[in-house]
Amino acid sequence: MTFKELCEARYSCRNYKSEPIASEKLEYIKECVRLAPSAVNLQPWRFLFIDDKEGLQKICSCYKREWIQTAPAIVICLKREDEAWTRRCDGHNHADIDIAIATEHLCLAATEQGLGNCWVCNFDVEALMATGLIPQGYTPAVLVPLGVPADEPKEKTRKPLDEVWG
Ligand SMILES: Cc1cc2nc3c(=O)[nH]c(=O)nc-3n(C[C@H](O)[C@H](O)[C@H](O)COP(=O)(O)O)c2cc1C
Repeated sequence: MTFKELCEARYSCRNYKSEPIASEKLEYIKECVRLAPSAVNLQPWRFLFIDDKEGLQKICSCYKREWIQTAPAIVICLKREDEAWTRRCDGHNHADIDIAIATEHLCLAATEQGLGNCWVCNFDVEALMATGLIPQGYTPAVLVPLGVPADEPKEKTRKPLDEVWG
């Protein structure tokens, strides 16, 4: 697959088969996430791979869309603002940019491995913090359900090139 083909193949999968994630695929994805760039190489992140029933139930209680319950695994992408680079001139903290890059590495690597995935940010952060899953000092930024797709990609709707560039 070329990189363009990979970009075209990635889509928001919202229905999964129940089969577990193959361990060699998971290891491949983990390494691709580890290699992601971050400001000043501070890597202000941590990723929790959750595939046990109790953990999945806790996460699903924080994002009330039924489709996420079909996922056999969910990655909680955690950021840490106090370990991220802050730009001096305006005080802008780059934890969100860093976690977004690493999360997209995750999604693209999963796609390459034939695993469906979806960015999910519309979850209840406070409720997730209260589950006991989140290590001290970290804040959940994105949930990424993972699994063999049980749906089909939809056609991409994107702005035309001349509205995106220049
Ligand atoms: C930062 C971010 C947050 C998102 N949050 C959600 C979400 O909470 N729930 C959801 O179903 N999709 C979510 N999405 C998926 C987008 O709706 C989706 O990427 C977009 O509609 C383009 O569709 P595609 O991913 O299939 O190309 C999110 C995507 C991004 C990048």
